[in-house]
Amino acid sequence: MIRPAVPSDVPALVRSRLAQQQELYSVGNLDPDDQRRLQERLSGYFARACVDDDALFLVDEEGSAIAAICGFSIEHQPPQIGDNGVYAYVCDAYTAPGFRRQGRMGRLVRAGTAEMRKRGVSALYFDSISESMIRLCQGLGFEHRHDYYSLIF
Ligand SMILES: CC(C)(COP(=O)(O)OP(=O)(O)OC[C@H]1O[C@@H](n2cnc3c(N)ncnc32)[C@H](O)[C@@H]1OP(=O)(O)O)[C@@H](O)C(=O)NCCC(=O)NCCS
Repeated sequence: MIRPAVPSDVPALVRSRLAQQQELYSVGNLDPDDQRRLQERLSGYFARACVDDDALFLVDEEGSAIAAICGFSIEHQPPQIGDNGVYAYVCDAYTAPGFRRQGRMGRLVRAGTAEMRKRGVSALYFDSISESMIRLCQGLGFEHRHDYYSLIF
């Protein structure tokens, strides 16, 4: 069952994020202090996000387990010719290994897309190193459009 995350989901959201980061970036090699700091930051972030109208974290629940999660973070830019400047960044996508290739992430992205339209969002976007996520989203109509210039602190 797909539903929005609520504050009691925060520990599961943190575990899922850590598992995602570990899989993508080997965060398991972090020293214990850094790992604890990351956990605290994630707990604070998700506690706020669960009650923020500009964030939506959808969870796909299977029995008592959370099988998959996908987040949508809304940003408000100045309106421009062609759209209202309200965009949502698709983030924190993760399906637990035992639940993959069952269409769960596709359903989460579709459900989030419908909700973002209701909230007045005019475009979704994401950035990913995951070939699987890119392929999946291309199948849902996402197109490669922009490369960004970043200043990293
Ligand atoms: C990428 C990821 C989120 C995909 O989640 P998922 O729930 O397996 O996604 P889906 O099942 O909707 O789609 C995955 C693939 O399974 C296929 N699929 C869907 N239902 C299927 C079914 N019943 N039988 C066989 N294949 C199926 C989809 O067509 C898709 O194929 P593709 O890879 O050729 O595009 C997941 O692999 C993951 O969490 N990876 C690690 C973290 C990560 O990369 N996160 C993204 C960061 S941006």
